[in-house]
Amino acid sequence: MIIETENDVTPAVLKAMERAPDARVREIAASFVKHMHAFAREVRLTEPEWEYGVGMLNRIGPLTNDFHNEGILFSDTIGLSTLVTLMNNGAGGSTETAAALLGPFWRMHSPKTESGGSIIRSPTPGPALFASLRVVDQAGKPVANAEVDVWHASPTGMYENQDDQQADHNLRGKFHTDAEGRFSFRSVLPAGYPIPTNGPAGEMVLYQKREPWRPAHLHFLIYKPGFKTLVTQVFVQGAKYLDCDVVFGVTKALIGDYKKHEAGTPPAPGVQAPWYTLDYTFHIEPGEAGLPTPPIK
Ligand code: BEZ
Ligand code: FE
Repeated sequence: MIIETENDVTPAVLKAMERAPDARVREIAASFVKHMHAFAREVRLTEPEWEYGVGMLNRIGPLTNDFHNEGILFSDTIGLSTLVTLMNNGAGGSTETAAALLGPFWRMHSPKTESGGSIIRSPTPGPALFASLRVVDQAGKPVANAEVDVWHASPTGMYENQDDQQADHNLRGKFHTDAEGRFSFRSVLPAGYPIPTNGPAGEMVLYQKREPWRPAHLHFLIYKPGFKTLVTQVFVQGAKYLDCDVVFGVTKALIGDYKKHEAGTPPAPGVQAPWYTLDYTFHIEPGEAGLPTPPIK
């Protein structure tokens, strides 16, 4: 088809893409083109604006490496990651879910750690945290031998992969639930931290005068064959930025009750007050277990 006017472009592109062999790929590509063209028409996109957008996409590539994933960060900051998470969990998006976005900082091979062990692998500031978790199915029955990855940022504001002052895998661990679906670990109380602002995602956030901060949270990834893998986060109640999380990850179900203890016998010798405890139960849905592609190595 020879194009004569602006109106001919969309049908010409859709026609050209029709022979892609896979029906789902065809559907996605066609819808993407329709929406991109509709977007350009709606805002009457100018040539310099188009150039700017392409430049932004181009800068995402070289910034992504074994330690940083700018593509995921960009998706997170426009709410796309949370939207996709909520559409695909909680009975296909119809009910509240315990899932939250993966974020750009999950690493696949966290050190195996005995239940009750510590994930502090180099000196880390902050009050002690003793977390006791339970994994159950939708009927409340314990899920034994689930593999659970835990990871969180240091209260200094960085994940270990961003910070050469922290040991490899500091504040990361891989646990297994016992016959009652329980596991526990020791760490420090997480604090809020800013997302990286050295690339297009952070530049956009700052330009929009948004806070680049995430509220304090722990991350969990729960894997057990026969169940849909649960990727989630548990936020500290009352934390700053809960109502303006830069990546839109906070839902009511995910606000944990981190209890502060100022006196009494600490859970381990030598622990100074105040220390914190967290008790939280994860409900996992039946489904296919799978692991995401790790955003970083
Ligand atoms: C995180 O919680 O690790 C995170 C999620 C999205 C963007 C940046 C960090
Ligand atoms: Fe995080």
